[in-house]
Amino acid sequence: MMGVQLKVLIPEAEIQKKVHELAHQLAEDYANKHPLALCILKGGWIFFADLIRAIGISVECDFLSVSSYGTGTVSSEKIRLRSELSSCPTGRDVLIVDDIADTGYTLHELQRLLYAQGAQDVRICVLLDKPERRKVPVHLDYVGFTLPDRFVVGYGLDYGEQYRHLSYIAILEN
Ligand code: IMP
Ligand code: MG
Repeated sequence: MMGVQLKVLIPEAEIQKKVHELAHQLAEDYANKHPLALCILKGGWIFFADLIRAIGISVECDFLSVSSYGTGTVSSEKIRLRSELSSCPTGRDVLIVDDIADTGYTLHELQRLLYAQGAQDVRICVLLDKPERRKVPVHLDYVGFTLPDRFVVGYGLDYGEQYRHLSYIAILEN
């Protein structure tokens, strides 16, 4: 993209250190629980893959494709489920794993849906949180980094389907 520059906000080593801290905490909290870990696609995939491998306890994995953004940087209130769970959340300890809590619409709605489907406990783990952007309340159980209101890319997060492959988090500057 012309005229767009990336400024590193969180380097790879810092992300990896944080992922291992979160994984350590999760391993303690979910010991003997065999949770259902739910990766929210597409943004959550790299974080999920690193986190799950670092947890080191038995975890069932499932994937849900959700979109709220179109191709730009503006969130929408309505989330769209583009796939269904292949597992049944009824009676399960569910851990939602996503890239970022922004307006909160996605996580708020997913948590509601999972409880409506009979999940016993639904916790949320995000790598990034932008609390200033919140439109609906959502309790985040595990948070990697709290960020100011800036649009970020990398480590799964995109802008117009670009930059997901970066192993660091960057701010997009015009
Ligand atoms: P929500 O606004 O909290 O519902 O967030 C919806 C989704 O928007 C997140 O899961 C991300 O995939 C995406 N998103 C929010 N903020 C950013 C950002 O700064 N960069 C890239 N994607 C973002
Ligand atoms: Mg997302």
